Amino acid sequence: MLISRVPGFFKLSVEERLSLITNKWNFNEEEKKLLLGLTPFPIKIADSMIENTVGLMPIPLGIATNFKINGEDRFIPMATEEPSVVAAASNAAKMAYEKGGFFTSLSGSIMRGQIQVLDIADPYSAMARIYEKKAEILKRCNAKDPTLVSLGGGAIDIEVNVIKTSNQSMLILHLLVDTRDAMGANAVNTMAEAVAPFIETITSGRVALRIISNLADRRIARARAVFSAKQLGGIEVVKNIVNAFEFAEFDPYRAVTHNKGIMNGISAVVLATGNDTRAVEAGAHAYASISGQYRSLTKWEINEDGDLAGSIEIPMAVGIVGGATKSHPVARLALKILGIHTAEELAESIATVGLAQNLAAMRALATEGIQKGHMALHARNLAMMAGANENEIDQIVQQAVKEQDVRYDRILELTKQLQKGVVNGK
Ligand code: MEV
Repeated sequence: MLISRVPGFFKLSVEERLSLITNKWNFNEEEKKLLLGLTPFPIKIADSMIENTVGLMPIPLGIATNFKINGEDRFIPMATEEPSVVAAASNAAKMAYEKGGFFTSLSGSIMRGQIQVLDIADPYSAMARIYEKKAEILKRCNAKDPTLVSLGGGAIDIEVNVIKTSNQSMLILHLLVDTRDAMGANAVNTMAEAVAPFIETITSGRVALRIISNLADRRIARARAVFSAKQLGGIEVVKNIVNAFEFAEFDPYRAVTHNKGIMNGISAVVLATGNDTRAVEAGAHAYASISGQYRSLTKWEINEDGDLAGSIEIPMAVGIVGGATKSHPVARLALKILGIHTAEELAESIATVGLAQNLAAMRALATEGIQKGHMALHARNLAMMAGANENEIDQIVQQAVKEQDVRYDRILELTKQLQKGVVNGK
């Protein structure tokens, strides 16, 4: 059985961590080299992914430990340039682990395609005419993606709205497409473009935009977990965390930073698995404002045992087939590490990371602040920049943190002193 609790994982060397992961997933030599960056990412693949490719931009891939999701332990791959994110997620997940971990659900895998129809003389009658032709519209859409239909997905419904702007009325048709294990942008956009001429015929209008909506409100991932008051540092800390949540819930200036912290975890997993970070981010922020005010994506309350109960609700348009999820060799390995078999499991796992990340940030903010935790990591980066080798870094970091002086010039001084000592045999 896979156990995601690995005490001291962070203290291992990169090679030791990788060998632990390798043993769990039976990675072959080629896969190991790929993760370590020893097999360069094929520039041909990079060039086929985007235009005007001139090189690569490596981002560290970390593994968050301690996640238990619906009773199953999972290791979470996270691609991020930001220090503390992986450690914070692992720490929060450790606290949730003690209380059974995370529990999740997904509302479905339905995405919306929007078709904008202009220049209609009678938009409300056109709306009625569209609904009369619903079966034919869905049939034409599904003819474009027989594979999706054979997998149990496809266009399943439509919704029509009339929007009145200051100078015109336009009709907006939503195609509701069950995209199953795909994120769905390709399937939805293809259907929207294909069915547009038929919509013009029905409405006698002119179709302009035909595009997916990233407000994936029919693909909502939910996760919840309980964190013990004792582990969090007592009831006062719990109360402060709830106060921090309420601050975010009612103040958009705070909510945006609070949600940014949630997205630190979410985007890292979305990126690691080759999914579209911008699609998920845009959807998340739009959903945070769905009430008319921008609010927290999480909710925090004190349960009847006096522990902290957290939950998150977030649109999660991610897939495990198509695009970079399949073409990017490291994204494929990330999916393997996660051990998921459906986009549903992936979406739900990602939501748990958002919840964990939020708890970790609020706990730090409600107690000692975030700078202390950042200091050691910052010092580590600076020591590397100053030219300290692997054996010297820890000593320099310890000293700088002890002195509470994490500035580049001081770290450089410490590095030079240490290296001089080593050279002189002191
Ligand atoms: C920093 O990347 C994220 C935080 O600002 C999130 C928060 O304030 O809740 C720490």
